[in-house]
Amino acid sequence: MERTTDISAAVDFLNSGRLVAFPTETVYGLGGDACNDTAVAAIFAAKGRPQFNPLIVHVASMEAAQELAEFNPTARNLADAFWPGPLTLVLPRLDQCPVSLLASAGLNSLAIRVPAHPLAQSLLQQFDGPVVAPSANPSGAISPTSADHVVAGLVGKIDMVLDGGDCDVGVESTIISCMGNEPVILRHGGLAREAIEAVLGVSISDGHQDAENPTAPGQLLSHYAPRASVRLEVIDPAKDEALLGFGSLAVEPVLNLSTTGDLTEAAANLFKMLHQLDKMGVDKIAISPIPNHGLGEAINDRLRRAATPRGTN
Ligand code: TXA
Ligand code: MG
Repeated sequence: MERTTDISAAVDFLNSGRLVAFPTETVYGLGGDACNDTAVAAIFAAKGRPQFNPLIVHVASMEAAQELAEFNPTARNLADAFWPGPLTLVLPRLDQCPVSLLASAGLNSLAIRVPAHPLAQSLLQQFDGPVVAPSANPSGAISPTSADHVVAGLVGKIDMVLDGGDCDVGVESTIISCMGNEPVILRHGGLAREAIEAVLGVSISDGHQDAENPTAPGQLLSHYAPRASVRLEVIDPAKDEALLGFGSLAVEPVLNLSTTGDLTEAAANLFKMLHQLDKMGVDKIAISPIPNHGLGEAINDRLRRAATPRGTN
């Protein structure tokens, strides 16, 4: 893995869809072009995440953030007070938001943060687009606070780390959801509750920590489920079913997640193609079997949720 402080080399990597670990003041992030589905899928693959947890989008400024998501007055207050800094805001995604649907795991919300670290700032300014970055550790391991940690965890999985020394804050950003009427803390982190309450002038409660199981579905977070019904592991689709295929098939699918059976490509296409099928007005979606290894596990997890009858999850 190349260790560098060369921002333009890192920008070239991002532009070509490759991944770059970079320092923020909280922890090192594993960055990729937020608008490139394949780069986003590669992040999940590098981390070995068994699920598509939604990722945080990093931008250089409030101006850039406003092009992606909607700020209510509370969100604006918090951003004015704490950006750049260790605060992530979960906000309603704008319709024209160009960020990959895979990055926000099909949610109608987007987690955004403006990091303060000078290398992160330079990278984001020069790349001039949103960068998604989970903490740069393998899934289940501790977040990295130095380039050494990144190398130790991800050697062989990614090609470049921007070396900015040790992270000052050392714990992840505090995450606040501004999706409902009242802001709620989704994750405690580098920005203390007291500092937030001092700015808002009110106390702030803990929301449900788990993005997968929101306290108020549809309000706090609503998972993208296609309008159509979904049937899994279908080899022989019925006449009235639209087949979403995987690999080379005896039956011609309406869309194919990956004709070559590449799980990273399939992950990159997953949410996009479910949306496409909805837009086509399909009522029943049948999905080819997806092998349950590598990113296949995360794909199958999502598909099982999509296949669950509405109102039961
Ligand atoms: O300090 C940090 O926040 C670091 C640096 C690299 O920015 N990043 C980080 O990312 O900790 P990660 O992926 O390890 O944690 C992101 C958290 C996850 O718990 C995820 O569920 C939550 O953010 N999250 C992301 N998008 C969300 C959304 N739309 N709604 C609710 N939670 C969200
Ligand atoms: Mg993490």
